[in-house]
Amino acid sequence: MNMKKICFEECIVTLFCILQLTKAQLPEWKIPCGAVYKPKNCENASLETMKNIEDFERCAPALLDPLSRDYIWAGSGNGQTLWENKEAYKRIWIKKRVLKRMVNYTSETTVLGQKVGLPIGIAPTAGHSIFHPEGEKGTAKGASSMGAIIILNSLALRSLEHIAASVPAGAVKWMQTYIYPNRNIVIDIVRRAERTGYNALVVTVDEPYEFEIKCNVRSRFFEKEVSVGFPNIRAGVEEILADPSLTFDDIAWLVNITRLPIVVKGIMTAEDAKLAAEAGASAIYVSNHGGRELDGCLPTIEVLHEIVSTVNSAYPSIEVYVDGGIRSGSDVFKALALGAKAVFIGRPALWGLTMGVKKELRKF
Ligand SMILES: Cc1cc2nc3c(=O)[nH]c(=O)nc-3n(C[C@H](O)[C@H](O)[C@H](O)COP(=O)(O)O)c2cc1C
Repeated sequence: MNMKKICFEECIVTLFCILQLTKAQLPEWKIPCGAVYKPKNCENASLETMKNIEDFERCAPALLDPLSRDYIWAGSGNGQTLWENKEAYKRIWIKKRVLKRMVNYTSETTVLGQKVGLPIGIAPTAGHSIFHPEGEKGTAKGASSMGAIIILNSLALRSLEHIAASVPAGAVKWMQTYIYPNRNIVIDIVRRAERTGYNALVVTVDEPYEFEIKCNVRSRFFEKEVSVGFPNIRAGVEEILADPSLTFDDIAWLVNITRLPIVVKGIMTAEDAKLAAEAGASAIYVSNHGGRELDGCLPTIEVLHEIVSTVNSAYPSIEVYVDGGIRSGSDVFKALALGAKAVFIGRPALWGLTMGVKKELRKF
């Protein structure tokens, strides 16, 4: 009887420990929709106390309302691709050399023939003014002060003209767009981007349908943003639709209507990279939309090398970039070592914007 009791108590304690452990290790995408989120050691968190992106990812969400927070960290399906984008970097190891005369080195490089301060850029994400009063202007100013590339989203809450005017003339700024069913929307964005000095157009091709993301946040967040309006889309919001009929001929169409280089974002195979190159793309941007589109597709870093090898041998002038799960300098190094010319970050920039709001401006 005593033995049974001890055993029972031990089981309860063990179960409790397992539950505690599981809770502590719960990845963000497994936290229930709209849950109260109170991370440890974030009470006095500020930009100054953040040591790395993990700190931002842990503390910044606590400053947002549940919808905005879920919108950033969510992925599609059961979050497998979202999770693996980050995890895959941990499976890649660096073969370290020594005594290589490490003096006078620089992080400067060129992208599409233009000098940048570092091979890192900000991926296009929507709705920055929800996270910081300066919105996309704050992002663009921050990126340009580092010599980093900024990609402005066509669904930004600031106009592309406003952003162009907010950054120094030499800043590297690219404009993102989808190929909307109403091609006049695209032509309008292209002409305005040309007029205001954008250096390239990024066309996102991995969204034939809008996959819903966890907690139905995409629709809910979109509704919230719609009330603010999208200054880069000169058409009704009902016209901002994905076009499932698109093919690589539409990339060729885009290439032919502009003098700006076209970066095709959302390529995940060597076969599609070739088709994009044949359609006239100047660069291939390897991305699975940060795990927000087809769940179960490979993590980006795992497909990068194959795409780079194919592109480099058949189209040596075409550059390859990558995003998804990049959270440290060593992740950047691994992506560059595997052949990327530059890398882009999505969520970390939004966490940075959130943490950058002065305390007195914080809403939550
Ligand atoms: C909140 C959010 C909104 C996004 N919106 C867009 C978008 O409108 N167009 C697009 O091409 N990619 C969009 N993306 C994908 C990013 O451009 C990028 O591919 C992805 O965030 C990279 O992964 P990371 O967040 O792990 O760095 C979005 C990503 C997030 C997190």
